[in-house]
Amino acid sequence: MGLGVPCSVVAIGLDTTPESSSLANHRGGPLIVAQSCWCGSVVGCLLAGKGPSPLIVLWPFQRTIHFEVDRAFANSMCPRQAASYTIFMVSCLLRLYFWLFCKVIYTFVPFSKYILPLPFPTTMSAPIRVLVTGAAGQIGYSIVLQIAKGDVFGPNQKVTLVLLDIPAFATPLEGVKLELIDCALPTLAGVEAVTTEAEAFHDIDYAFLIGAMPRKEGMERKDLLAANVKIFKSQGLALAKYAKPSVKILVVGNPANTNALIAAKYAAGKVPLENFSAMTRLDHNRAAAQVALKVGVPVENVKNVIIWGNHSSTQFPDVAHAKVLKNGQEVDAVGAINDTAYLQGDFISTVQKRGAVIIEKRKLSSAMSAAKAAVDHIRTWHVGTKPGEFVSMAVASDGSYGIPKGLIFSFPVTIENGKWSIVQGLKIDEFAQGKINATTKELEDERTDALEACGESKQ
Ligand SMILES: NC(=O)c1ccc[n+]([C@@H]2O[C@H](COP(=O)([O-])OP(=O)(O)OC[C@H]3O[C@@H](n4cnc5c(N)ncnc54)[C@H](O)[C@@H]3O)[C@@H](O)[C@H]2O)c1
Repeated sequence: MGLGVPCSVVAIGLDTTPESSSLANHRGGPLIVAQSCWCGSVVGCLLAGKGPSPLIVLWPFQRTIHFEVDRAFANSMCPRQAASYTIFMVSCLLRLYFWLFCKVIYTFVPFSKYILPLPFPTTMSAPIRVLVTGAAGQIGYSIVLQIAKGDVFGPNQKVTLVLLDIPAFATPLEGVKLELIDCALPTLAGVEAVTTEAEAFHDIDYAFLIGAMPRKEGMERKDLLAANVKIFKSQGLALAKYAKPSVKILVVGNPANTNALIAAKYAAGKVPLENFSAMTRLDHNRAAAQVALKVGVPVENVKNVIIWGNHSSTQFPDVAHAKVLKNGQEVDAVGAINDTAYLQGDFISTVQKRGAVIIEKRKLSSAMSAAKAAVDHIRTWHVGTKPGEFVSMAVASDGSYGIPKGLIFSFPVTIENGKWSIVQGLKIDEFAQGKINATTKELEDERTDALEACGESKQ
């Protein structure tokens, strides 16, 4: 693997703790550590050097280089993935040393910078156009800053934010635009506040379709459906007319799955079905957080929970395939929780009813957590899933797990190069099948009602 060390499994960490070194020792591989400062590296050496695992410390300099590698991620890698990450890290460091070498030469050798150019370009990528609908609403207000400052597309990608709301909200929308300008963000190329679909959907690369009537206390999803589905018919047509065919769409506005189905139907022919998705990432995050609380580990130590089906109270939050990193060991969440009654009862209902509980307490629907989940959803779609990890995303069914083709159904997915794939071959027991059948039935009924509301007798 280029380092001349025997390697069965490798632990890579941004820091060195007794836990990560004992994990490397347990797995019999070397511990590779990228430290963010000299002091941390010395401490790391002292800690990790106590075990039998070989230790390789990479010596970067403070704030010069940033590795997006965390311990839970590292621990989930197979040897091949670990080897490629190691090569990546070493190549970054070689570039860093070359850059420092160039800086020294420039200082002491006249005209050398014309002969030896610096290897790190500082330019940002050309701006992408990102639409947020319902941008004057509460999720909109929470999400626009996160998109504008690089939480979704990274610190080197400029974005032009296009904010859409209804004409009645033009003035507050203008206020949001002014605040974004005042944030003075290097990643924000421009902000457009608009009230027509023609302006909003023109040439966009990504769409966060949030704008809709929110669910109020005691309101049934069926009432919402009739009110909201027509908005998504109109936006589907606008996508077909004005957007780039490569545009990627996240529907947040409820009923999210069925709204996405309708938007996709009316954008067909221009925007492919696989570019549409609806948000169940909030439910996914809620499920992971509940597992973390129950097991007593940080939430980043929980992976592969699944939300099956609809973003509604029939969704099935499933931990049968989830993993938990506990005391340095990756174990099954079911085993770590060891409480079937809880997993088949309170756990499911807590996640299913969380939205309603928040409405009851705040008198408003979830906004901060919904905005964060939408950021997570598109960021994962943009950068891909980590090795060994899957996330929940409502996408068009291809018939997997017996779900009728074309329904926008939440599945476990992996993402590579901007393309999602439904995780195949997971074992579904009788209990899970019953839950999946119930949420499928609800989505089929919603589809019938939605098509009717759009003036279509059948699909
Ligand atoms: N999928 C999820 O996990 C999830 C979670 C939370 C909320 N939601 C849903 O997200 C939606 C927005 O929630 P919110 O709390 O921000 O509501 P909000 O009422 O605060 O904001 C909605 C905004 O959408 C605007 N709007 C309405 N129709 C529009 C249209 N045709 N075009 C553009 N904008 C339009 C409204 O004027 C308003 O500013 C709701 O449908 C809510 O139920 C989904």
